[in-house]
Amino acid sequence: MKICVVGLGYLGATHAVAMATLGHEVLGIDLDTNKVDYLNAGKVPFHEPGLQESLREALSTESVAFQTSFEMTEPASVIFICVGTPQTVSGKSADTSFVFSAGESLAKVITPETVVIGKSTVPVGTAAALRDRISEVAGFPIHLAWNPEFLREGTALEDSLEPDRIVIGSWDDYSSQKLKEVYKPILDRGTPLVEVDVPTAELVKVAANAFLATKVSFINAMAEIAEVSGADAVELAKAIGYDERIGNKFLRNGIGFGGGCLPKDIRGFVARAEELGAGEAVSFLKDVDAINQRRRARVLSLAAEELGELKNKKVLMLGLSFKPDSDDMRDSPPLDIALRLARAGAQVTVHDPVALSALGDKHPELIMEQDLSAAAKDQELVILGTEWSEYKSIDPASFGDLVANKLIIDGRNVLDVASWQAAGWRLIALGRNVHN
Ligand code: UGA
Repeated sequence: MKICVVGLGYLGATHAVAMATLGHEVLGIDLDTNKVDYLNAGKVPFHEPGLQESLREALSTESVAFQTSFEMTEPASVIFICVGTPQTVSGKSADTSFVFSAGESLAKVITPETVVIGKSTVPVGTAAALRDRISEVAGFPIHLAWNPEFLREGTALEDSLEPDRIVIGSWDDYSSQKLKEVYKPILDRGTPLVEVDVPTAELVKVAANAFLATKVSFINAMAEIAEVSGADAVELAKAIGYDERIGNKFLRNGIGFGGGCLPKDIRGFVARAEELGAGEAVSFLKDVDAINQRRRARVLSLAAEELGELKNKKVLMLGLSFKPDSDDMRDSPPLDIALRLARAGAQVTVHDPVALSALGDKHPELIMEQDLSAAAKDQELVILGTEWSEYKSIDPASFGDLVANKLIIDGRNVLDVASWQAAGWRLIALGRNVHN
């Protein structure tokens, strides 16, 4: 099928490559010339394992191309809208202006047979307004469906090609049939298909992210209780996670969730619910957000408890991305903590296997160091902020020879406590009673 993908950020670039991998003929559109040039040259403008190889493969068979204009030689059968919906500058709601401007641009190139499919994460009710707006500009009633995406950074392509489920929200059979054609190879493998109305499809995405954020904050709340009661939140998570109704995933306590999705989606959800007069229903998400923020503050207070005055103290942050296998630092807990430590007067060195180049010269108050051994030299406190595998395999004995003070806060609960302690480190693990 001829498929067009509008918006080539994380979601759109991955979706375009995934669609080409499924055998479709894909045209990706983005207004950003740099991004388009990059992708056409076979380069992915962000760190995502495996994506560049699949992009090059698709380019070599001419099954994908990228451009900045909406002009098409032949009309696409389906057009996916994958543009971003960031948090508004003035408030907490999601900014849908990119979705509407993409819709208005594509209204000029579609035919009555084209199906427009929303993939962006939007406040419930956006799809209906978008359908009306595109129909008004196009001059005929358009087909529009909603098809939320659940890909995670770090495993984006795999999640797109082997999703847990496909959700299709549509007002008419023609649109859902077209979407089923798009996903035929995936559906033929027996992947669950959930067909719903459009508002449900819009809600599914924010509900899923809200649930995941709640799960992380739940275990972080337990970590707070563990810290004042002498209990161990890691063992507690293990014990409750064996109950299949609870499950052991997304129960890792630490410095909390970040990224371009979970934090802004729960805030946007609350804002939209309030607009609809149902704010109370999801007001608990404000607590979810607050618990998440408190974990960052906890690391700052631990640093102050351990080091006394933070001014001029040498601190090393291991990891800056919001999760491993990504260079995304949007709302990243380790970056936020590093900046706050620097504001408190500490000399903060930051290390990350991939994210430093994306940081560029944005934060001159942080000392960037690419080499792990050089980064460790003379540090008085080390904080593990992102659980890159490189950090999990550090040898605590030789690493201990480099620092000035063998003190580490494990912000992700991934280090082997016994071996670090045996090598003479004082290890503070969030939510645990293992401190020596
Ligand atoms: C999230 C969702 O997991 C995807 O399903 C969704 O498609 C995506 O948002 C989106 O809306 O586009 P992502 O932001 O890539 O994906 O990251 P997650 O894997 O969900 O992790 C989010 C944060 O939670 C990370 O900072 C991670 O370190 C933290 N986390 C995760 C924990 O602190 N503890 C855990 O047990 C799990």
